[in-house]
Amino acid sequence: MTGRLNGKSAIITGSARGVGRAFAEAYVREGATAVAIADIDFERALATAAEIGPAAYAVRIDVSSQDSIDAAVAACVERVGGIDILVNNAAIFDLAPIVEITRKSYQRVFDINVGGCLFTLQAVAKQMIAQGRGGKIINMASQAGRRGEALVGVYCASKAAVISITQSAGLDLIKHGIHVNGIAPGVVGTEMWDEVDALFAKYENRPIGEKKRLVGEAVPLGRMGRAEDLTGMAIFLASAEADYIVAQTYNVDGGNWMS
Ligand SMILES: NC(=O)c1ccc[n+]([C@@H]2O[C@H](COP(=O)([O-])OP(=O)(O)OC[C@H]3O[C@@H](n4cnc5c(N)ncnc54)[C@H](O)[C@@H]3O)[C@@H](O)[C@H]2O)c1
Repeated sequence: MTGRLNGKSAIITGSARGVGRAFAEAYVREGATAVAIADIDFERALATAAEIGPAAYAVRIDVSSQDSIDAAVAACVERVGGIDILVNNAAIFDLAPIVEITRKSYQRVFDINVGGCLFTLQAVAKQMIAQGRGGKIINMASQAGRRGEALVGVYCASKAAVISITQSAGLDLIKHGIHVNGIAPGVVGTEMWDEVDALFAKYENRPIGEKKRLVGEAVPLGRMGRAEDLTGMAIFLASAEADYIVAQTYNVDGGNWMS
């Protein structure tokens, strides 16, 4: 088999469903021999891993807990001997007008989206440094990290932080041969967007499904993204073809944002 990720070992957080799951399937198709479906929803991670096949295995992780991150990374290393690729994909969304944002929502979104990204990256980077053969780390940002949105203050700030962490970690870790880069999707029709749509319906007094339809129609390419639309960039950044790329975040969004 001549895949671009032949023999590689990857951890993808939040890959029980959605974009992360599509990445796991794509990595296995590209020859990865061990892909950890690392998710807080362990039952679904088990089912997803079983559906993908023997190269995939389920790992329980809550990226907002240091103990859980450490245990998950240790479990992967014990099982498959090392880690070549990490995708920091797990995240949650929330929505509220600025004057209604609660500390609880802020804390939860930042613990998962920012702390989860930073400290999973840290734990895996330590392992990669010990292995001495470099690695690839991909952080999932968002167009929400490129500019604020009236009702999306906390999530947008969390994704701006992911872009910034990608820059700092990229610059710091390249001396170990560890490449840290990011992907900023636009709007992708996963279960997350069904949750987003329900929140917009509540705060903008819309029928269910309307916001999702409108944002899809507004994409210059003419439709909402699919998880599969992101896999090309995720494979590329994890492969040797991206060996001269450091600390960048790429928009894959049908033309929504230009930077
Ligand atoms: N869907 C979009 O429109 C969109 C747009 C831009 C960026 N993104 C980003 O892409 C990534 C994937 O999005 P998606 O649409 O597939 O999301 P999703 O909500 O469908 O899937 C997220 C996964 O993360 C898991 N998860 C949640 N909290 C966790 C935790 N504490 N620890 C471990 N796992 C946890 C969930 O169980 C789920 O399997 C996210 O980082 C998201 O912010 C999505």
